[in-house]
Amino acid sequence: MTTNIGVLASGRGTNLRALIQSASEGRLGDAAIKVVISNRQTAGALDIARNSNIKAVYLPVGDSQWGGWDYDSKIAEILIESEVRPNEGLVLLAGYTRILSPEFVGMFRGRIMNIHPSLLPSFPGLNAQRQALEYGVKISGCTVHLVDEGVDTGPIVLQVSVPVLDDDTVDSLSERILAEEHKIYPEAVRLFVEGRLRIEGRRVRLG
Ligand code: GRF
Repeated sequence: MTTNIGVLASGRGTNLRALIQSASEGRLGDAAIKVVISNRQTAGALDIARNSNIKAVYLPVGDSQWGGWDYDSKIAEILIESEVRPNEGLVLLAGYTRILSPEFVGMFRGRIMNIHPSLLPSFPGLNAQRQALEYGVKISGCTVHLVDEGVDTGPIVLQVSVPVLDDDTVDSLSERILAEEHKIYPEAVRLFVEGRLRIEGRRVRLG
């Protein structure tokens, strides 16, 4: 059965672009990106979706509470209308800046993935690349993980490391990490779609 995918994105959308490209080349397995939803009207991700003939929905935050189910229930409605159903579909966070409510996480439990630009559990949250540089680590990277109720705390699916060079800036490090993000996110999605992820507590075994 085809895995229907919904993507939540707030920014420029390069990970979305990599996912769309992979899907068009059959590298996501039997999957279809059905909808892209953004909390920001000007998100590049919405344009990328439209240009690829994927349904693109701007959902204004309005006065719904930060992280609230008021907002997330509308996301769930749009996903379900777009055939991305709990227990069947897959929700991908690709540069999505809001924290999902526990209700939403519960509804799509085990079926939400995120990409984060550090080697978790180091440097969760915002500005991960800056955090890594300021800490002085010699290696950083990116992580694809399943989403739980915490911030960047869910079980880890894939990680790739990159060196941190002496003359790195936030931009140069971010660019090196981003190139790897564009490889491992589609790869993790394919593993999910092919049913090859086995979640045992915090550990995700690849079958
Ligand atoms: C990426 O660095 C991703 O790891 C983080 O947000 C950024 C999104 O970039 N979660 P893009 O919008 O996919 O270009």
